[in-house]
Amino acid sequence: MSRGRFITFEGGEGCGKSTQVARMKAALAAEGLPVLLVREPGGTWLAEQIRRLIKDQDEEAPCDRAELLLFLAARSQLVKNVIRPALDAGTWVISDRFSDSTLAYQGYGRGLPLDVVRAANDFACDGLRPDITFLLDVSEETSLVRMRRRESATHSTADRIERAGSEFHARIRRGFAEIAKAEPSRVVTVDANGAPDAVWEEIWKSLGRIR
Ligand code: TMP
Repeated sequence: MSRGRFITFEGGEGCGKSTQVARMKAALAAEGLPVLLVREPGGTWLAEQIRRLIKDQDEEAPCDRAELLLFLAARSQLVKNVIRPALDAGTWVISDRFSDSTLAYQGYGRGLPLDVVRAANDFACDGLRPDITFLLDVSEETSLVRMRRRESATHSTADRIERAGSEFHARIRRGFAEIAKAEPSRVVTVDANGAPDAVWEEIWKSLGRIR
């Protein structure tokens, strides 16, 4: 039995990841492949508790270092208990965010030293790297419009990270672009400002690289 493939989706707020990861899951399953979809932070009981602590409470904001370590604790748990065993069993794993989000948000966004974030990331996931990463890039305008639309559709308000300000989010976007530039054989940048169908077509075509 061959090892499964590890596919990640990355991007800033409102980039349309949820739609595209769902399509990827459906398309792979339609080909008869065993497929598992996870999201970060989350995907195990412990990691979902950490997600709640990071995103959904206003009691006490974690400081930047604590925020980094919380994301990494959640990732370690998910990699060890879910992702690696699934890949070893031949399952294709799709993750809605992974290590690049930490480098972009906590490194480029919060300003923690990039070498520390990279090393900590590698330690947390025991060296596991995606086979391919789709970076969905959207302009600041698209991101704002989609976030507002989501807030009104779900009657929710933006969380602490989503509210962190336009400079923070601009640094994240630049960070993702740097990551893509440094690893062109792994990271496929997709212009995600357009209609979901067009974005999906580009993603599906690029998946040929790892099949
Ligand atoms: P989302 O899955 O709904 O996009 O929520 C995850 C939030 O957490 C999003 O604002 C990005 C942020 N995040 C980080 O800051 N660092 C990380 O390592 C990960 C996985 C997510």
